[in-house]
Order: sequence, then C-alpha cells, then structure tokens
Amino acid sequence: MSTATMIPTREGRVSTNAAVPPSATNEGSATGVGLFSLALGAAEIFAPCAVARLVGLKLNPKLVQLLGAREVASGVGILTQKRPTSWLWGRVAGDIMDLAVLGTARLREERGARGKLIAASAAVIGVTLIDTTLSARYATKGGKKSAIGRTPREQLVHFLSDMYSVEQQALAQLISAPEIVRDPQLADDFRRHYTETEQQAGLVEQRLKAHGASPSAIKNAVMKFGGKGFLLFARAMPETSGRLVVHSYSYEAMEWAGYEMLVRFAELAGDGGTVATAKLIRAQERTMMQRLERGFDMVERLSHADCSPQELSEHVCRHLAEVHAFESQHVMLLQKGEDIAGSPILENIYRLQLNESRKDARLVEERLQKLNSGTSKIEDTALAAGGLNWGLFFQAQSDTPAKFAAFVYAVLHLEIGGYEMLKRTAHRNGDDTTEQLCDRIIAEKRSMADGLTELFGAAVHATFNST
Ligand SMILES: [Fe+2]
Ligand SMILES: [Fe+2]
Repeated sequence: MSTATMIPTREGRVSTNAAVPPSATNEGSATGVGLFSLALGAAEIFAPCAVARLVGLKLNPKLVQLLGAREVASGVGILTQKRPTSWLWGRVAGDIMDLAVLGTARLREERGARGKLIAASAAVIGVTLIDTTLSARYATKGGKKSAIGRTPREQLVHFLSDMYSVEQQALAQLISAPEIVRDPQLADDFRRHYTETEQQAGLVEQRLKAHGASPSAIKNAVMKFGGKGFLLFARAMPETSGRLVVHSYSYEAMEWAGYEMLVRFAELAGDGGTVATAKLIRAQERTMMQRLERGFDMVERLSHADCSPQELSEHVCRHLAEVHAFESQHVMLLQKGEDIAGSPILENIYRLQLNESRKDARLVEERLQKLNSGTSKIEDTALAAGGLNWGLFFQAQSDTPAKFAAFVYAVLHLEIGGYEMLKRTAHRNGDDTTEQLCDRIIAEKRSMADGLTELFGAAVHATFNST
C-alpha cells in the first residue's frame, strides 16, 4: 500500500531550535529535480501514448496523464518553495507509484518491449535514489539539529504530530477502499475503520492542542496526496482486493506499533491523558488487523477461484516473486539497522532478522526457479522493483530508533500478509512444498515481530539518546 507516505516531521511546527539552511549544492540539485519533474509531467500530460510506448507497456492514457499531473505539482512545489522538503518526499512517494505501475502493467506485444521496460525500471530506480537522498539531506539539514536536546514533552509532541499525519493518510486510503475491495464484509470493515480513524485523528489533535501545538498543514496535505495516489495505482494493478488487504494489514501494524510507542513517550512525559488516548486507539488498530486477517481467505478466493490450472500455477509464481520483493525490501531496510538501531540489543535483533530474510529470499528464489525455470535474474529484479517499495521509503523515513522499529514491524507484517496469500494460492494449486515453506516462514516472521515488540521500550529510550 502506498501507505508509503509517512512524511518527515521536520517541517512540523513543533521543532524546538532554529533550522540550519540547506546547502547550495542541495538547492542546485533540488532545482534540477524540479525541472525534471515539470518536463516529465508535461510529456505525460500531452503525449501519454508516446510515453507508454517508450516504456514498452500497455497503459491507460488517463492514468499516464494523472501521473503527469502529479509530476507537474511536485515540480512547481519544489521550484517555488524555499525549503521543498515535503515536495521532495512527495516525489519519492510518486516514484514508488511509478515503480508499481511499471511492475504490474501489461507488456506491449512488440519486439523490444521487455528491454524498454527494464531500462525504464532502472531509470526510475535511479531517480528514486536521487529523490530519497536529496529529501533525506534536506530533512537532516533542517531537522536533525532541531531534534537535539528535546525534552520528553517536546519529543511527545513531535511523535503526536507524526501520528496525526499517519491518521490523515489512513483516512485518504480508507475512504475509497470499500469501493475497491469487492467483498461486502471487508467493505464494511473498511467503512467502520474509516469512522474510527476520523475519531482517532480528532483525539490525537486534542492531545496536540493540550500541549499548545497543532499539526503541520503542508505535511498533512502531502500525506493525503499519498493516500489518494495509492488508490490510483491500487486500481491499476491486478488482484486489487488482495493487495489492498495485505498492504492495509501492514499499515495497521505500523499504526499499532506507533501507538505502542506513543504510550511509552507519554508515560515518560507524565501525560496520563495521552497514555489513555494511545491505549484506546492501539486497541482499535489491533482489531482492524484481526478483521483484515479474517479477510485473507476471502480475497484469495476472489483472485483465484476462477483460474484455470495453468493460470493458477502462474499465480503461485507471481506471489512467490512478490514475497521475494518484500524480502528484498526488508533486507534493504535492515541494512540501515546498525546505524539507526540505537542500542546493542536492537542492533542484534536487526542483524538476526537480516540473516533470516536473506535466507528466506534464497529459499523463495529456489522455489521460483523450480516452478518456473524460465525466470531470469533480470526479470525478477524488475518485478521486485515493481512491488511497492516500502523498504526504500521506510529506509528514508526512519530517522529515529522508535520510528525505525515501527517500520520494521510494518514490513514484517507486509511479509506475513504476502506469505498468507501465497500459502492459500499454493494450497489451491495442490503445491504442498510451497505451502509448508510459507507455514515455516510465517511462524518465524510472527515470532520476530513479537520479539521486536518486547524491545519497543528500548527503542523509545534510544530515541532520546540518539537525538
Ligand atoms: Fe489509526
Ligand atoms: Fe488504523
């Protein structure tokens, strides 16, 4: 899910010290990125069919034009703002959308189409890396310094502001989810959680106001934009219902972890009101996770009940490739673990997870090769890039030990969701080996997630030491 938009808190009004201005080099790079955005956006708006041909895909021209409108908005934002951090993060979210579209749209039936797609994917990955680096650099220049010496109360307000933005994005995603999901029970679940989320946003805002703070307008606008963007490409992808449920599951896990952290931040600040609010919301997020877990069976049936045996085998491979992409993202995120963990015990758990993920990725790859000997390394890479690139996004966003732990928890649940879908698909196809592999890995991921939860307190303490 392009849940993918937890925008940095740095621009919030709660920072305590003066921000350091970004360097001239950063400014020059940002101008370049802004101009690139405008040029690409114009091409997508005025020549959508030519752009689709260029990347070798069958794409709906309206979708390409919408992506173009997003590019132009980012370009204007980057070029006109003195500190375009939020717009740069908006571009990162947009890059992730582009990768998802590239990875899931149908290839054109013409020679060289695959080569064009691979070249386009490589180019978008390159641009994503530039955008991520630049955004992180701006955020660091403007924010890391402002976090130095935060008191428990300031840290609490900062985190509350983050959670407010998380809820705003949840609202943007949940509003259209009932129309997309194709199952009445899950549609009801999404509707119910939309109402809960509206209340949650109100409660978090009240706590911010209790501390004389208010949410950042720019940040929330970008968050909402990200939520809408997610829905745009969720519609464009195959197996929409399944993907929606798996990504929502991961998002709810991130929220749950966020409120677990908030309880601890509020306790340290001696704010009983926020402790009570966080506990209430935490319970609602957990319940939503359980509703989505119950939905796995249903969405798998929706995706595969009408498949021929041949199609079903292809679906097993596709789901294997998807969990492989999730594992790669987990590895990418954890590679940063050493720098951001904040304490030796957390560092250790991330190292263990890293080894496990590498091992699981190998097992999945072996299975994929056995079932589909034609899968080349490059195609797999293109597919991995096309998966929602949470790993990359989280890597750029997770600036404190507490946020990092919450993101790792979310990625673990993205994987769990992916394996749950793969397991059901393999079962339908009579593929016991893959099903057993899923059972083993799911159990391992769940125990990793539980183990990480035990260390949330350590992550909160480490956040004070690291800032
Ligand atoms: Fe929420
Ligand atoms: Fe939620």
